[in-house]
Amino acid sequence: SSAAYEHILISTPKPGVGLITLNRPKALNALSSPLFKELNDALTKYDEDEAIGAIVITGNGKAFAAGADIKEMAPLTFSAAYSNNFIAPWSHLANSVRKPVIAAVAGYALGGGCELALMCDVIYCTASATFGQPEIKLGVVPGAGGSQRLTRAVGKSKAMELILTGKNFSGREAGEWGVAAKVVEGDHQALLGEAIATAETIAGYSRVAVVAAKEVVNKSQELSLREGVEYERRLFHGLFGSEDQKIGMKAFAEKRKPEWTNK
Ligand code: HXC
Repeated sequence: SSAAYEHILISTPKPGVGLITLNRPKALNALSSPLFKELNDALTKYDEDEAIGAIVITGNGKAFAAGADIKEMAPLTFSAAYSNNFIAPWSHLANSVRKPVIAAVAGYALGGGCELALMCDVIYCTASATFGQPEIKLGVVPGAGGSQRLTRAVGKSKAMELILTGKNFSGREAGEWGVAAKVVEGDHQALLGEAIATAETIAGYSRVAVVAAKEVVNKSQELSLREGVEYERRLFHGLFGSEDQKIGMKAFAEKRKPEWTNK
């Protein structure tokens, strides 16, 4: 339950929208292992909750997240990192959450914070947000997929430059480069409003179709074009077995709004 969380806040700002607010403001939302445990727990609960159609993850005006918790990592040894599979729990979001997740990024999204945003399905940010992979400055490299996802998002040359220099990039640049789907000129509240509105739109569609849409787009990141198109077609065929396909197409013909059963 929400009361059990120490490092995050959860709420339902609109019907169908599950909001997770990272809440370690004094540490700029540094992503400690205890925080991530709570994040994964909240994500799992929203994913399983039939009333929820889309999830938003945000921070505050100063920070989305300023990275993995450096103070936790500093004394870590290779053997402890390896045997405990440090950072592996972070894969839950990218590998197991089936409902769409929107990152609403204001302030710092550095290191693991940038990687967390990149693991989300859609990024919205403020123009003044600060993204970056500064791990090189700490004697390490991105460890939660940043070298792979940022490279897919911006191309090799730009990703190399960013990861090798550790220099930051702005929310405005994130928008220009296609890292972010939307750049909001206002503050964190304005940004969050936009992210929640989009989540509400998604939550208004058939749950079955939404999960399928996320799945097919994600396949484009893993498969060859031919395999991906074939995968898409199979899933498209499969949706003719859903009630919501009949409901959606019938409603169109009858010029009325569909009432989804999510079946
Ligand atoms: C732990 C952090 C932190 C972090 C900030 N804090 N970032 N603690 N881990 N990643 C803490 C500070 O120690 C400080 O605590 C408090 O938050 C406020 O931070 P300040 O530095 O005082 O704020 P400011 O001067 O405004 O500078 C903001 C900042 C700076 C530029 C974002 O905090 C910064 O450079 N942070 C580290 C960014 C970073 O290197 N991230 C990548 C981490 S490596 P006190 O107690 O002093 O008040 C990483 C690896 C990922 O993420 C790979 C695996 C996932």
